[in-house]
This record gives sequence, C-alpha cells and structure tokens, in this order.
Amino acid sequence: MTEQTHAGSLVRTAEQKSYWRQVLGHYPTGITIITSTDRGGRPVGMIVGTFTSVSAEPPLIGFMPQRTSQTFREIEQTGRFRASVLGASHEKFCRDFFSAPKESRFSSEAWEFDAHGIPRLTDSVAWFDATVYSVLPAGDHVLVLGEVADLGLGPRAGAVPLVFLNGGYGTFTKPQPGFSPEDFGGRLRVANSVTGLVRQLTMELGVECALSTVVHDQVVVLAAADLRSPYVGTSFPFAAPMGPGAAAWSPLEVRERWINNGLQITGKMDTTLISDIIDLTRFHGYAISFGHTMDDGFEAVLSSAKDDAQALSQVWEALEMSYKEFRSDPRPEAHASVLQIPIFGPDEHTAYELVVSGFAGSHTERFKRILATSLSYGQQITGMIGGTAPAHYSPQIP
Ligand SMILES: Cc1cc2nc3c(=O)[nH]c(=O)nc-3n(C[C@H](O)[C@H](O)[C@H](O)COP(=O)(O)O)c2cc1C
Repeated sequence: MTEQTHAGSLVRTAEQKSYWRQVLGHYPTGITIITSTDRGGRPVGMIVGTFTSVSAEPPLIGFMPQRTSQTFREIEQTGRFRASVLGASHEKFCRDFFSAPKESRFSSEAWEFDAHGIPRLTDSVAWFDATVYSVLPAGDHVLVLGEVADLGLGPRAGAVPLVFLNGGYGTFTKPQPGFSPEDFGGRLRVANSVTGLVRQLTMELGVECALSTVVHDQVVVLAAADLRSPYVGTSFPFAAPMGPGAAAWSPLEVRERWINNGLQITGKMDTTLISDIIDLTRFHGYAISFGHTMDDGFEAVLSSAKDDAQALSQVWEALEMSYKEFRSDPRPEAHASVLQIPIFGPDEHTAYELVVSGFAGSHTERFKRILATSLSYGQQITGMIGGTAPAHYSPQIP
C-alpha cells in the first residue's frame, strides 16, 4: 500500500495549508461549547473541536483556542468556564450558535446561568465546570488547561454525540451485534409454523395480517396471510418511533439503539414523546399506528425509497406527528390503521410482532372485535413458540 506524503512538508503555501487541513480533517472530533462571561458579566462562548480530557489527578481538561480568539481572551480574564458536550441532535443548534451575532447567542431557552452568570446549556450530553489552570503557547493556538471543579451528565447523556469529520457534522454509530444466519433461519421456521394461524386470523376478521421480527436493527416481514404478499422479505429500519411494540418489551440496550437509530434518521428526537409512546404501548399491551402515514409514505419506503434518507426522514417525521396527535386523542381507535401485537419469546421479550392492518375507518365495535381477536391469536402464538409474556403483561381492550 502506498501512502500519500508531502515529503518535508511545511504549512507555508496556500496549497500546503489546504493539505494540512485535509489530512487533519480525517481525524474525527467531538463538539463542545466553552462558555464564560466577559469583564462586564455578559455571557460569551465558542464552539471547539479541540476539547479533550488531560489528567485525572489533578482533574484536568483542555482545549485549544486560536491565539487571536477574543472569546478566549475574555474567558482567560474571568478565569473560569463551562464546557458542554453536544449531541447529534444539537447540529442545528451548533450551526445557529456559530453564525449568530455574539449579543444574541444566549437569548434562547437553551441556556441557564450559574451564580457567576456563566451560561449552562440545559440539555447537554455532559458538562464540566473548570477554572483556568494554565495557558501554554502552542504556535497560532494556545493550549488551555482547566482544573475541573464539578462535572456531570446532562439530559442528553447516552444519546449519540455530535461528531465533526472532513469538514462536516455527523455522529457515531455503536457497532451492532452481527447478523446470524442460524438465528434468522430459526425465526423463519417459526414464522412458517404459525403462518396457518396468521391466515386464519385474516379470514376470521377480513383484515390483512403479517408477522415481523427485528434482525440486525431492521424490521423484517417474515410471513403474511397472502403467500404472495409483496411485503414478505421486505424490511425497514428498527428506529423510533416506528415499531414501538418490539421496543417496549426489549432489553434497555435494544431500546436505546431503537431511539438512536431514529435520531440518526430524523436528526432530532422528542425523547418525551418516545418515552410516552413506550409507556402507552406497555400500558395497552399492543402498539397502534395512526392515520395515512403507514399507507401513503410507508409503502414507498418499503419498496423503492428505502435508501433515500430524505424520504425515510419524512415518513418518520409524519409518524412522530401522528403519535403527537394520538397522545391528546380521547378515542385513538377512531384513527387507528395498524395494530402491532407482541409475540413473546422464552426470555419474555418481544420476539415477533403480529401486524394487523386493513381495517382503518372501522366502527368502534368492529375495532374492538379485531383487537380482542388479534390479542388472543397473539397469546396463542406466544404459547405455540414456547414463549412467555412478562408477568405484568395484561392487554387493555377499549
Ligand atoms: C466545528 C467547529 C470547531 C471549532 N473548533 C475550534 C477550536 O478548537 N478552537 C478555536 O479557536 N476555534 C474553533 N472553532 C471556531 C470558533 O467556534 C469561533 O469561530 C471562534 O471562537 C471565533 O473567534 P472569536 O473567539 O475571536 O470570536 C470551531 C468552529 C467550529 C464550527
């Protein structure tokens, strides 16, 4: 393998400077906002990609402002600062902060102020309060070391971080557990063995019905009542808020991945809404989707637009909206379009979902019958595959 080198390169000419930036651009950095006050007590701040941990004993953090940075001059005078680590959902916030006039950077509700008037980002991933420990010259930058007086995790702790690489913002994906053909084959066999019941349910109720599972962070349709259904074998991302039935009864790390996957698709996530959806799904004992989202946009996702990030993001956003409406709706069943009934495995987690659709607009009595019958088939299938529902599982029928 050959390496591209600039023998004896100095960062002198415009071309060399550009190459210097290009090479260093291949090193990813996190994004942190350093905040403090100026001499008049007014809030100041700067975005840095150079924040780093330095020492545990004493507890030191560091960052590298340009020698000419006015903001740093103020921070150095004040002698104390806060470093707030940004998450992936802060990308717009970060861009807006960067381009906003200095006087208006701290006017939004994103900020609180400590006793010294230093701005605190209310929804950071992590934060550090530090006093300036030393400032070392470092060419056209200075290396600032801060002694940490206090630190903590913010409300966004656990969310994927905002990452800067090759001149653009992005984020970090946790490696997923590998795909196991044996495990997938086993699930296909299970699906095959219960297809008869899926078909029976379809005929009994005059609805559409399919069985899905989550494999490698994709929801895969394993079986459908109609053997020639175009949906069998198709998949879509296991990403919040889609597929709450699989997320509601799964281990915490799976639920976190579900949320992070949703965050990666839409770039933002209403975490309160997501936890409400999970709570509602657990309370009901099944999940409901609403409105036309599933019919209109979703088919496009399942067929052609699956790799189109923008189309995916639009469907996910529409879904989020429909859940918001649902939250405040006293008669959600009136708008229900898809039911997702959990089928539990031996570990009491959702192993499959029975997905019932094709009943939108049904009157309440019919909806109740569809729900009750689907739930009873769900329990039957759980039993057939040797699964167990969690002890507190008790589905509600309206
Ligand atoms: C992603 C990103 C990373 C940055 N990292 C640094 C940094 O490590 N050091 C720095 O001095 N400026 C950095 N900047 C630029 C500062 O945010 C800001 O432009 C600079 O502080 C403005 O100069 P001033 O302090 O004189 O107002 C970064 C900007 C962005 C968008």
